[in-house]
Parts: sequence; C-alpha cells; structure tokens
Amino acid sequence: MRSRRNFIKQSIFGAAALGVAPSLVQASTKRVVTKPIVISTWDFGVAANQAAWKVLSKNGKAIDAVEQGVRVAESDLDNPTVGKGGYPDRDGHVTLDACIMDDQGNCGSVAALEHIAHPISVARLVMEKTPHVMLVGEGALQFALEQGFEQENLLIPSSEKAWKEWLKEKKYKPIMNIENKSFQTERLPGNQYNHDTIGMLALDADGNLSGACTTSGMAFKMRGRVGDSPIIGAGLYVDNEVGGATSTGVGEEVIRTVGSFLVVELMRQGYSPEAACKEAVERIIKKKPAIAKEIQVGFLALNKKGEYGSYALQSGFTYAVCTKEKQDLLIKGKHIY
Ligand code: GLY
Repeated sequence: MRSRRNFIKQSIFGAAALGVAPSLVQASTKRVVTKPIVISTWDFGVAANQAAWKVLSKNGKAIDAVEQGVRVAESDLDNPTVGKGGYPDRDGHVTLDACIMDDQGNCGSVAALEHIAHPISVARLVMEKTPHVMLVGEGALQFALEQGFEQENLLIPSSEKAWKEWLKEKKYKPIMNIENKSFQTERLPGNQYNHDTIGMLALDADGNLSGACTTSGMAFKMRGRVGDSPIIGAGLYVDNEVGGATSTGVGEEVIRTVGSFLVVELMRQGYSPEAACKEAVERIIKKKPAIAKEIQVGFLALNKKGEYGSYALQSGFTYAVCTKEKQDLLIKGKHIY
C-alpha cells in the first residue's frame, strides 16, 4: 500500500511529468476552507484562543487575533513559562522572548526583554514602528519604555521561591523541559508540567494567516540565553501562500533545524500539517539521536485551507483549536516516543 507521503510525492511527480505546476493541480481540487480558525499550543491555548476568537468572529484580522490571544497566557500568573510569573534565569532575572508575523511577511521580535509583561505587544511595535525585525535586552527595554509600556517587577513570589529552591543545588545542566517529572515544586503539582511556550496561528475570515509566539524560556537558564521562540523561522514562521508553524520545547534543537520554516516549506511541497510536523521532529532525532529521547519538542501547523496538525517527540503535548463549530477543543498531539 502506498504511504500518504509517497502518494503526495507521486502526485507531484505526475504533475511535473504533465508539465503542470503542482499548485495548479491542487488548486483544481475543490476543498472547503475552514475559516476563521485559531490554534495554539498546550492546555492554556484554550483560554488564549477564546481571546483570539473575539477578534476573528467579528471579521477581525489574524494579526490582531494572535496578539490578543497570546496576551492572555502572558498575563496568567499561574503559568511559569510565559510572561509575568515566568521562572527567572539562574541569576534571578525574568527575561522574556516573543515574536509575531503577519500575512505580508512582516515580522517583529524581542529577546531577553526584562520588566515588561507583554513582550508580544513590544514585538508587534518592533514590526510596525522600526526598520528592524529584532531588538534584544537593554535596547528592547528602552524601546518598550519609549512606546509607553509600564516597567514592572516580573519575578512574582512563587517564582522567586522556586528559583531559591533551585539555587540549593544549582544543577546546570538545566532542566530542559518543564514537562520533566523531576521538576517538582509545590507550585507545579501533578500534571501541570505540560506548560511551555505559547505559539498561536490564526486564519481570518479574509483567508489571511498570522502567528505569534511568546515565552519566558527555559527555567533557570544561563543569563543571556535565548531560545527558539523569538527567532523567525525557528519558533514561528508564516507564509500566507502556504501556512504557518510554531514550536514548543527545547529551543536549541528547534533553532538547529530552523524548525518552523522547515514545516512551512514541507507544507509547500504538499505535506499535510501533521506530516510536515512529523518530518521536522524526525530531523531532530536524526541530528541528535542520543538526546532526542530525553527532551520535548513539538510543532504545530495550520495551512491555508484551515487544516491543522501537530507532532511531538514525547507524549504530553496538547494543542487547542477554536472554530465556529467548536470553541474549546483540546487535542492530544501525536508523538514519536
Ligand atoms: N521553546 C522555548 C525555549 O526554548 O525557550
């Protein structure tokens, strides 16, 4: 029996043999497009999607929806991996990373930003008000303050307590993924380990795509460490002709494979969102077979037709989907191990 991927390859080959561009073959196939739609990583994506849906359901733009959506996770003080309340670096500084990308290929990003609770909104202003794509550290803070953002202490008491616990042993090798069961603190009982970056992708009523990604990064990271989340192509990529992708988990491995760009390019070649995410995860395993079993990386993708899918290295990855039909769908991602 032919695998789906083989079938796709054969279809593309067949189209080339006929001298017809694959995209024309696909365009001739009638498909129903699901729009608007918003999808985002992890359980906390359900609440974030609801905020995005308020924009999308009124025929709002995808770029506004994803910014409003992920701000919900940034405001959630019970979430130790995004925004205010995120765990600090090994020296006690909460440093935030975020990026955003619209349907025109415009993008903005901030990395290692301190004292500002909504890095995604700063990233959007980097996109809209500067000639640059990325601002980092002191410069990002200076820009945020110039734009009127409030400077505040992001290290809340529960995060400070967890950091002080960590300081007793200062194990570095840091814990790579908050899903790791050894990461037990009073603050994170039971299954609340399934928390990481929020990555969100939306297709609006006009059929335009945008995405956003925001995180406090790896808990107790080295000062200055930046992961995949603010890096366009790694933590997030959107191409309005094809689709968008975002990632969660150990950012270093996602950067090494330029993961989200890879997923979008695979979708351009005809892969389904799920098959593209699976292939990206398999690249990580191929490059790092020794550590791939020890870490979590997940990809989430949405294509131009409103089809979505995900794949992760480990079990435990979830993602939330919101459409007109279903407002609070939470799906268990497929996984390799
Ligand atoms: N994926 C989030 C990070 O590695 O910082």
